[in-house]
Amino acid sequence: MSTLYFYDGHFYEGDPAAVPLEDRGHEFGDGVYEVVRVYGGRPFLLDWHLERFERSCSAIALHNPLPRADWIRLIHEAVLRSHESEAQVYWQLTRGAAPRVHWFPQTDSKITLIVRPQTAAASTGGATLLAYPDERWANVFVKTINLLPNVLAKESAHRAGADEALLVRGGVITEGAGSNAWFVSEGKLYTHPADRHILPGVTRRLVLQLAQSLGIPTEERAVTLSQLKNVEEVFMTGTTTEILPVQKIIAESSLLNQLSTPQEAPPESLLYECVHPVELWAQTGEAPVTERLRAAFAEAVAHCRNHAPMSP
Ligand SMILES: Cc1ncc(COP(=O)(O)O)c(C=O)c1O
Repeated sequence: MSTLYFYDGHFYEGDPAAVPLEDRGHEFGDGVYEVVRVYGGRPFLLDWHLERFERSCSAIALHNPLPRADWIRLIHEAVLRSHESEAQVYWQLTRGAAPRVHWFPQTDSKITLIVRPQTAAASTGGATLLAYPDERWANVFVKTINLLPNVLAKESAHRAGADEALLVRGGVITEGAGSNAWFVSEGKLYTHPADRHILPGVTRRLVLQLAQSLGIPTEERAVTLSQLKNVEEVFMTGTTTEILPVQKIIAESSLLNQLSTPQEAPPESLLYECVHPVELWAQTGEAPVTERLRAAFAEAVAHCRNHAPMSP
């Protein structure tokens, strides 16, 4: 089986193309979504995803038609039916279909769910990020299906030959277009606080726990573009990205003038380049923070795989 679809109570083996043209997700982006990674047939950190999903629904006053136990049953059933043990489950809930008016009409919210095969996250020698203006709305903690600013940022990154966009709001690095951002400076780990300017990643939540259990000093504090020169390691996290080491950060030209003094702006657009992990190890006498966290993350995934897949 390749991709499995679910819409409005039914499973389909091909895209059913069944969504009404006047669905509010289609017309307004009036809906929220989640993506869960499946390892060895078992959805990873599903409860945390459902917790965030429930918060997203409440934040936009969207009626969630299923209690959590029913979501868990539906997701497990979809994974079993797909016969995919390495997969991602994407689901979204929209406010449903009605003649187009901006206020909330009387509608039944509609579930779409897709299970796709997922290959392991690329073990790159290090990703390139394009620093790019964060032009999203002020409530990005809501995982809304309105992703146009993220799409535009990702496309610019793609055109610049980068793997991800690193979003910058008023000189402050918020997160990636589809991932959370992490920085290590003098052995301490920094990530943007979970306020309304970032999506509180499920992987971020796990990494904070792993860092604590490894005794890595951590602070939820934003890093600015001009502080990048003091940073030793950068990595990004996300459900399908996992923990992605960053090799370099280049800047979109409009961002270079946000650096506080003209002297701080490098002549070309390169803002950060990592020290080779082996060199870093030699300098600090211990494994780089990114590598320690990646090893702990791999253990958490192995633990997930070693549990038997659940039946619905
Ligand atoms: C904007 C943004 N930030 C962060 C993340 C990472 O969140 P998670 O770890 O829950 O996948 C995502 C994932 O889609 C995202 O879109």
